[in-house]
Amino acid sequence: MNSLSYLNKYLLRYKLRFGLGVVMVALSVYFSILIPPTIRDALNFIVDKTKNVSPTDSTGTFYEAFGSDIIRFGAMVVGFSILSGFFMYCMRKTIIVMSRLIEYDLRKDIYQHYQRLDLAFYKKNKTGDLMARISEDVSKVRMYLGPALLYGIRVTFLFSFIIVSMFRVNTTLSIYTLLPLPFLSISIYYVSSIINRRSASIQKQVSRINSIAQEVYSGIRIVKSYVKESEFQSYFDDESSLYKTKALRLARVQALFFPLMILLVSLSTLLTIYIGGKLVMDGEITAGNIAEFVIYINMLTWPITSIGWIASIIQTAAASQTRINEIMHLEPAIQSPVSNEMMLQGSVEFRDVTFVYPDTGITALKNISFKINKGERIAIVGKTASGKSTIADLLLRFYDVTEGEILIDGINIQDHDTDNLRHKIGYVPQNVFLFSKSISDNIRFGNAELKQSIVEDYADVAAIKDDIMTFPEQFETLVGERGVTLSGGQKQRLSIARALIKKPDIVILDDCLSAVDANTEHKILSHLDASLKGKTAIIITHRISNLLTFDKILVLEKGLLVNAGTHTELMKKEGYYKQIVEHQHY
Ligand SMILES: Nc1ncnc2c1ncn2[C@@H]1O[C@H](COP(=O)(O)OP(=O)(O)OP(=O)(O)O)[C@@H](O)[C@H]1O
Ligand SMILES: [Mg+2]
Repeated sequence: MNSLSYLNKYLLRYKLRFGLGVVMVALSVYFSILIPPTIRDALNFIVDKTKNVSPTDSTGTFYEAFGSDIIRFGAMVVGFSILSGFFMYCMRKTIIVMSRLIEYDLRKDIYQHYQRLDLAFYKKNKTGDLMARISEDVSKVRMYLGPALLYGIRVTFLFSFIIVSMFRVNTTLSIYTLLPLPFLSISIYYVSSIINRRSASIQKQVSRINSIAQEVYSGIRIVKSYVKESEFQSYFDDESSLYKTKALRLARVQALFFPLMILLVSLSTLLTIYIGGKLVMDGEITAGNIAEFVIYINMLTWPITSIGWIASIIQTAAASQTRINEIMHLEPAIQSPVSNEMMLQGSVEFRDVTFVYPDTGITALKNISFKINKGERIAIVGKTASGKSTIADLLLRFYDVTEGEILIDGINIQDHDTDNLRHKIGYVPQNVFLFSKSISDNIRFGNAELKQSIVEDYADVAAIKDDIMTFPEQFETLVGERGVTLSGGQKQRLSIARALIKKPDIVILDDCLSAVDANTEHKILSHLDASLKGKTAIIITHRISNLLTFDKILVLEKGLLVNAGTHTELMKKEGYYKQIVEHQHY
């Protein structure tokens, strides 16, 4: 339950609204509580007046005697109801609105926190789980801040007011009337926890069904090409029928809920009338009091029921908040110590760098040392899984080194402003990711203000402009699900344009031409040669082209730097580099 105390700071933020809400609840309860005594008085009044009037009196004096008084009582009841209703409206306007405002703040804070967290965090946690925390869990917490809090306060007021009024009338009758109510509350609590448990299990089943469907749809090419439709169909059927079973189990308990409630309330009413009737005969209370008590019971029914309901909302909310807190209390492993925006000179040095991926424990780099001077262009080659992409990860400070250090412009990478560093590095990742936006917006992703003409220039540099011009809406064509499906090579070239348009000081290209044909590669390389002039460039590649010359070539093997040197130097040695140069054919 403690986890919910995290929300106090938000409640404090809206303390005025909250305080006002509490006053509105009190007023609404106060006016509703005035109704039963009014009805009691009206009833007593009638009993009193009709003592001496024969009901068969047809002269009309029967009504004349107190007709206007009855109307007065009626008007009072209506008036109190209206006032109570009005304040109820106000209480919802304050407290429920407050819960929505906090929900918004909380969701925004979680989102902001998510974005601060490092890549290792995203590797460890499933996307679906992260999404559930920011959507469902926040909604459940909102139920606590809104309805649970609101009805909790309302129940408290209502109880105190009603119990005081009851005991003022008669102690014995009060005790008998209230006796069955705790049972009602406990059984409702019991039933609603079962309901909650079953709903949660249904919710989980829904997620399962969703993820099965999602996986099949995104992998539909594979499913079809391996003719696995019927297999997935029966899997889906099984999961759906499990859902059905669970939903029916829930329906059975839910069906019990109202009858149980009505049974216990009726029991309470029965007792009141029986004991009350005896007390009236003994002359201890009036007939009006019985009516008053019956109304009290009816007024208490829903609040009593809601105690169980509130308790289970709070329980669920606490569980959700615990899940949220787990993340909110995480500090990002990668922290930027300073904030200073500046140009990078572009010298890079690895000193004895060893790196172990934190989640898998795989040693991706072992004692790597090399130096790249400002403005140099180097290539990194090596077999698959030799650690090439890991070097890029470390340079962008997605991870911190396990041992050794990386210097950029002679300063340890951990002492750089991380945001500035990333701004100044143009990175083309090995696996291209594009957003579902227009082509233009994807290219100018790093800087939304860039003019269209510049976007087109860089599309030209990446040799993608001609392709774009053939699309239906050219640069405004949408990419992704609702738009064009780009080929692998087209995506790579868009991604190159996106990186270069930033005018970075350091460029890292990770295997970015693997999916383009030789002709296009030639075209890009001749452009690249010009646009990389004066910049430090690290090019990870499986192919060496004579169009792009390198100051140095690093050869990696299983995380070790096995060779380094210029093209001529490396061609003199037998090794991986000589092999790939000699075996590649265009
Ligand atoms: N995010 C990650 N988490 C855990 N282990 C990783 C991660 N990325 C890579 N590895 C592991 O680190 C090792 C080096 O991978 P890396 O991606 O650097 O290879 P690579 O040289 O780029 O290979 P390729 O030529 O296939 O792209 C591999 O054994 C890989 O399994
Ligand atoms: Mg790689």
